[in-house]
Amino acid sequence: ATTRYEVESAPAVCSGAIASNHSGYSGSGFCDTANAVGSAVQFTVSTPTAGTATLAIRYANGTTTNRPADISVNGTTVQSGLGFEGTGAWNVWATKSLPVQLNAGTTTVRLAATTAGGLGNIDYVEVTSTPGAGDGSP
Ligand code: GCU
Repeated sequence: ATTRYEVESAPAVCSGAIASNHSGYSGSGFCDTANAVGSAVQFTVSTPTAGTATLAIRYANGTTTNRPADISVNGTTVQSGLGFEGTGAWNVWATKSLPVQLNAGTTTVRLAATTAGGLGNIDYVEVTSTPGAGDGSP
């Protein structure tokens, strides 16, 4: 099963502004963080049972400069400097995926910028549980 978590919907946290000035986003907007190291977004995902899942992060980066982020799960960095390369324009969206281990119940996923550009514009994350390992699905 795949569940989408929009960055503009609580309990997600956008440490910046929810914006809608570039088309192609899902929901009612995207998160535009400050151009600074440490700019962050945070999602709270819910799964009934613990297990492996794939996290897909939708973003746009209209610059030609990578905007890497440290990805942490429940406060522990699980991937350092995941690349969010330029997508060609701010209205061109792309997805970055990585495997994560989820708790039963809620899991906090945080993206924190490691360079002065801050994060790309972040639209949502989708969590897809691995069959048999996440949500009891076959
Ligand atoms: C532009 C763009 C924003 C983007 C920003 C940035 O201002 O319109 O959507 O967030 O650049 O460099 O991060």
